[in-house]
Amino acid sequence: MKVLIICNRNFSKVIYRLPQQTKEIYSSKTIEKIANSLEKRGHYVEIADGNIEIIDRLKDFFSKGKGIVFNLSYGIQGDSRYVHIPSILEMLGIPYTGSSPEGHTLALDKVITKIILEHYGIQTPEFWVFSSPDEDMSNVKFPAIAKPRMGALSLGIQLVNDTCELKKVVEKILEEFHQDVIVEEFIKGREFSVGLLGNGNDLETFPVLEFDFGGDINAMQSTYLKKYKPVKKICPASISEEVAIRMREMSKKVFHILGLKDYARTDIRMDLGENMHLLEVNSQASLGETGSFIHAAKVTGRSFEEFINRILDVAIKRYPMLKEN
Ligand SMILES: Nc1ncnc2c1ncn2[C@@H]1O[C@H](COP(=O)(O)OP(=O)(O)O)[C@@H](O)[C@H]1O
Ligand SMILES: [Mg+2]
Repeated sequence: MKVLIICNRNFSKVIYRLPQQTKEIYSSKTIEKIANSLEKRGHYVEIADGNIEIIDRLKDFFSKGKGIVFNLSYGIQGDSRYVHIPSILEMLGIPYTGSSPEGHTLALDKVITKIILEHYGIQTPEFWVFSSPDEDMSNVKFPAIAKPRMGALSLGIQLVNDTCELKKVVEKILEEFHQDVIVEEFIKGREFSVGLLGNGNDLETFPVLEFDFGGDINAMQSTYLKKYKPVKKICPASISEEVAIRMREMSKKVFHILGLKDYARTDIRMDLGENMHLLEVNSQASLGETGSFIHAAKVTGRSFEEFINRILDVAIKRYPMLKEN
């Protein structure tokens, strides 16, 4: 099959640059590794940059026969960064891996995700949303954690202990990230993530992975740790089978209700009473080799190559137009 990998490289190839520039990016090494994994299975692979030139590139690539996009684009800028490439592909009728514009929209917005989770009775930390430091913050329970509404990589995340501190942090996040601030009750305890792969009844969950904070119930994942000093991962996590099943079922349910596709990862905190609180769902879970998703995937016994091709296969299955080939 012809596969066009779309990622982001040149962020200046747009008409205007917006204040909200995307901070997530795949390394060339990971992209090369994914391309090699697909080629080893006999696919014809090219790599494209998801910027102003993408429509011409798509026209060129797909005019010579059917194929699929392997979407590794986090987007260039704006509120809806994950949504841009899938929207273009949907409009043009081109098959692609991963979630649709709708799924990415819901998962990228931590506030909307939590409103939906609450509607379906899935526990998530209590929260408040602010778009100005002058709003009434008297209801907030401390300690709390403040984060940008559409954040990632723990960027801008800050633990706050009182209203005075919170006001300053809200002001800073608004200034730096140009988006609302979501404030959540801080969940003391352990932290886990669950990888998901597949669709419908064939949705599988990877073994639950724990971030090893060495017993520190106040620890959290900072940007520094994520980028430079990844926290040790324990997979499968040392939890009872019953707790693991609860986390996996909770993650599956979220995947389905947000309408996600092919793969995703949930982030979960477990409090001291063993209650699980879903923090967020990553609809564009990193496929980087040091990430928790790939770590857990490998624990299932599959190689990186097998796993990347499995993502492609579950995506292809969703498109009847590809089966006609
Ligand atoms: N309500 C919370 N209670 C405790 N820790 C939290 C809470 N929210 C976030 N964190 C910590 O901050 C990290 C990043 O938060 P998360 O909501 O997953 O945003 P991001 O999209 O930046 O990954 C989490 O992995 C966790 O360590
Ligand atoms: Mg997270």
